[in-house]
Amino acid sequence: MPELLEVRDVVAGYGRGPAILTGTSLTVRPGQVQCIIGPNGAGKSTLLKAISGLLPVRSGEIRFEGERIDGLRPDQILRKGICFVPQERALFPRMSVRENLRMGGYVIDDKKVLESRIEEVLRQFPILRERAHQRAGTMSGGQQQMLAMARTLIVKPKIVMLDEPSLGLAPKIVQQMFEIMHMLKDRGMTVILVEQNAIMGLNNSTWGAVLDLGKTLFEGPAQEVLADPRIKELYLGKAKAAA
Ligand SMILES: Nc1ncnc2c1ncn2[C@@H]1O[C@H](COP(=O)(O)OP(=O)(O)O)[C@@H](O)[C@H]1O
Ligand SMILES: [Mg+2]
Repeated sequence: MPELLEVRDVVAGYGRGPAILTGTSLTVRPGQVQCIIGPNGAGKSTLLKAISGLLPVRSGEIRFEGERIDGLRPDQILRKGICFVPQERALFPRMSVRENLRMGGYVIDDKKVLESRIEEVLRQFPILRERAHQRAGTMSGGQQQMLAMARTLIVKPKIVMLDEPSLGLAPKIVQQMFEIMHMLKDRGMTVILVEQNAIMGLNNSTWGAVLDLGKTLFEGPAQEVLADPRIKELYLGKAKAAA
């Protein structure tokens, strides 16, 4: 299968600081749920920021459908079809649910298309319709995560990148969140999922990549990555070092 997204030897860091990604590579094929795991501070969020154009790439390249996208602005990358849901969800807490959905579609110039996409999302997520006029910041964590993920449907991206969507959610709500993720996949989106919880992440994915110290250690089918003894070593090793 051809790759949809190709990250090759990417070096990136913040401002004039040291490189955080020190030569990261990643291949994402269409239809995958690609899970990126790795210890805290490995550079997982930094990688998603580099792909989405929020952080400049110092060297290496990122290709989407064969075309270079490193160097493009975040809105240009979103227009091409890569949508990023950051860890902090990036909702507008003082705006209503409907306004948040509208903001999510800021790259859609045709207002009629935008309004019909919003209607579509509200049809699929009755809870969001019920709360269409409620301020996003007053909803529960699970509902806010639902809104952040549902909002990606407005632009119908080809890739949606989720940074630790389960963070801070109760187990039952985490299950709901994964259901929404699978729903995005069923709608034809390719998913890049960053998870701190390796077992949960890999069990909900088709492919896994392990990141440590800004480099891809290895990747493979999710179940193989899960069974790989290096995983245990990586996490236990870090835990020991921290103890
Ligand atoms: N905004 C920032 N400015 C400077 N350094 C940062 C910033 N965000 C993250 N870092 C550093 O980059 C490294 C990797 O962080 P991050 O990508 O958030 O890791 P992960 O998501 O894998 O836990 C850490 O050492 C962190 O301190
Ligand atoms: Mg992170």
